[in-house]
Amino acid sequence: MSGELENLTFFVQTFGCQMNESDSERIAGILCRAGATKAARPEDSDLIIVNTCAVRKKAEEKLFSYIGRLAQIKKKKPVRVGVVGCVAQLRGLELLEKKYGMDFVLGPDNYAELPDILRKSPAEKHISTAWSAEWHETPSDLAIHESTVSAFVTVMEGCDNFCAYCVVPFTRGRQKYRPLPSIIREIEELSRKGFKEIQLLGQNVNSYRDPQSGGSFPDLLRATSRVEGIEWIRFLTSHPKNFTLEIAATMEGEKKICRQLHLPLQSGATSVLKRMRRSYTRKEYLEKIAFLRRLMPDISLSTDIIVGFPGESEKEFEESLAVLREVRFANIFSFRYSPRPLTRASELKDDVPLEEKGRRLAEVQALQKQIQLENHSRKVGSVIKVLCLGLAKRTPHLYSGRNEGYEVVNFLSQDDCIGTFINVRVTGFGPYSLYGERIPV
Ligand code: SAH
Ligand code: SF4
Ligand code: F3S
Repeated sequence: MSGELENLTFFVQTFGCQMNESDSERIAGILCRAGATKAARPEDSDLIIVNTCAVRKKAEEKLFSYIGRLAQIKKKKPVRVGVVGCVAQLRGLELLEKKYGMDFVLGPDNYAELPDILRKSPAEKHISTAWSAEWHETPSDLAIHESTVSAFVTVMEGCDNFCAYCVVPFTRGRQKYRPLPSIIREIEELSRKGFKEIQLLGQNVNSYRDPQSGGSFPDLLRATSRVEGIEWIRFLTSHPKNFTLEIAATMEGEKKICRQLHLPLQSGATSVLKRMRRSYTRKEYLEKIAFLRRLMPDISLSTDIIVGFPGESEKEFEESLAVLREVRFANIFSFRYSPRPLTRASELKDDVPLEEKGRRLAEVQALQKQIQLENHSRKVGSVIKVLCLGLAKRTPHLYSGRNEGYEVVNFLSQDDCIGTFINVRVTGFGPYSLYGERIPV
């Protein structure tokens, strides 16, 4: 196949979650294999692919402001523009209208078609947004990774949960699972290339089962742990209802699985959780946290919180704050609720005013900031193990990495240590990262 698109340079702009980041790496691989060349800037390319997110209104708006920037580039030279990902799946036909002027649209299940589309005349508009019920394997070596140290590996796609606020089941379709042997083959290849950390990805990763043998998520975790050379294993995203005691016990039993878990709570009020169709109560969530901490006292926990879901009262909101105070998460991602198309919640009245959502969000974030400062201050003077991932973005005289708990650690080092595990003595901190200096092992 190589050579067919050899005059083509391309740029991929990615918005959204880790799965989109991983898909963009795969898209880059598909295009490079067909002979195209990756450009560093959109201005230097003949083809621009925008990988989009629809999860919140603000995420979707990123595409539309980017389309404005594309219009500037198009004024200077002809470029072909394709929209892929979740907004493509949701609003495909609309994006081909003259108003937006996109050349092609591909939903998340259709990226293998890219070379064929590009071989056609640019004048020919194209859209593919079909979902396939089966897992379609793209060759595992077909990804141009952004990192050389840590890699995402998709193990399942889609979501059958239909939480009332969430559009993902309508953008990624029904759950489908990747065969376990092909997952392990990819991880073995990554290990041979020198990767040290693997993050298993799925919208609902805990419900993974091997389509061939019926093996469970703990089976996948154990098989991943056996791959030599990979030293840290993480996974996301876990739904509290599917997070079983067996998964916790597997984490505890397997040395390579990081003692770190992202477990989205969404709301601390059982009444709101019920309206969100999350199928667990506040009490059940807290019991799982307590169990995890009994098993692994040093586990690092993070969560997602939505404020201003339809009908959320002040008292219900305060229950979310109370859970944050009780659990003291290492990190949270917090969002203002926004109604999304096709979802159950979009039929409810979006009755918490925007300013009130803003106040609640600010309150959540201020509380969490204080918790993180307190958590971090206790680490000063201690020595922590860090996987060095690269240079710190804003302070490039420092290296940057993460500890087992997935906290960002920026540190001084005399030698290049990217891709290695090192010891760092913590000397300072901010709310969102730790600072330190490398010390001899
Ligand atoms: N599959 C994952 C990721 C879902 S999207 C999961 O189940 O956790 C990531 C986060 O976006 C969600 O956890 C939720 O907190 C937030 N989110 C999803 N839909 C939203 C909406 N309509 N408004 C505000 N936040 C939303
Ligand atoms: Fe959305 Fe819920 Fe599925 Fe997560 S579990 S992707 S929040 S529907
Ligand atoms: Fe966004 Fe789609 Fe991921 S909606 S969060 S890019 S699954």
